[in-house]
Amino acid sequence: MSDAKNANMKGLILSGGKGTRMRPITHTAAKQLLPVANKPILFYGVEALVDAGIREIGIIISPETGNDVKECVGDGSRWDIKITYILQEHPMGLAHAVKTARDFLGHSPFVMYLGDNLIKDGVGPLVERFSKGNADAFILLKEVANPSAFGVALLEKDGSINCLEEKPAQPKSNLALVGVYLFNEKIHQAIDEIKPSRRGELEITDAIQRLIATKHRVDSHILRSWWLDTGKKDDMLEANRVVLDEMTDMEMLGNVDENSRVSGRVHIGKGSKLVNCIVRGPAVIGENCTLENSYVGPFTSIGDGARVTQAELEHCILREKCQILDFNGRIADSLIGVGVELTRSNGKPQAFRLMLGDDSKVEVV
Ligand code: TTP
Repeated sequence: MSDAKNANMKGLILSGGKGTRMRPITHTAAKQLLPVANKPILFYGVEALVDAGIREIGIIISPETGNDVKECVGDGSRWDIKITYILQEHPMGLAHAVKTARDFLGHSPFVMYLGDNLIKDGVGPLVERFSKGNADAFILLKEVANPSAFGVALLEKDGSINCLEEKPAQPKSNLALVGVYLFNEKIHQAIDEIKPSRRGELEITDAIQRLIATKHRVDSHILRSWWLDTGKKDDMLEANRVVLDEMTDMEMLGNVDENSRVSGRVHIGKGSKLVNCIVRGPAVIGENCTLENSYVGPFTSIGDGARVTQAELEHCILREKCQILDFNGRIADSLIGVGVELTRSNGKPQAFRLMLGDDSKVEVV
């Protein structure tokens, strides 16, 4: 953990929003609670802030999924920190979320972290650099192949920001804004001075641009390690792949019978039972799962209480309590919601690529 001097920084994690790009999964679940390697994405953000020495975190929630977020994350005692929930009635933009959190933030500098983002290297050194320096805002950038899908920054030679544009048709650089920002209290006035964009949102890029226009200093750092924005199904699978790929150990708390073979980096949770299965890591199987006559291939995460028989899974996220029974087929590149039942009878072996919302029932006949 970093110095206690970062303790005066607050954290603001944005976990509201609509999650339209992840429907149908987000009809019933907050996208920030979707699991990556069996851990909610939001926890990676909280832990990054805790590791940077931040002791007070505000979490922006929406009326639709706020209670689920509260229930899952709790009051912060599990990390020995204080968490305050801040309700944003409508998802009117990232800068609007900061505005909604103004009472919580007071005069403190803060790290704003998008709750559906993951970055490899944490934020400790950046918080340190921001605390010691004289910038009013500090943003993270990453070179990307498709800058028009992001907020894009054009830099001066000294690394300060010349200008920012939100999803430009003709980007001036390939440097996208990563979902982690550091601000001091000057951002609040800048937000008061901007108007909603064409898509009707108060954009954080406009607020930062306003800081620049009013002669405040905005610095940046270009990330060399990975950054993942889990807005869509394939991003989630990629996040799951990258995080599992970094797993270094093996953990075997369940019961694996003598006809099963487990190879590579694999975690199997307590109460789980494998009968006549092949598991090739990296993969995680949660607690109290039952797997029979099945193959679990690399980059697969299986949530607690799942049952899988006669199936092949690879590069998949299965959420808690899924039942894939007598399937006689292969499921790859798939994201399967909580409590999904997937059964099949009399079919020739086939392969499936699926995105199934919570409690779906699919019968392939
Ligand atoms: P986005 O992914 O930009 O927006 P979204 O969650 O509404 O998703 P979609 O585009 O698929 O409809 O949001 C980034 C993060 O910020 C995400 O964790 C949701 C959160 N957020 C808020 O908390 N309040 C807001 O007003 C907005 C726009 C986003």
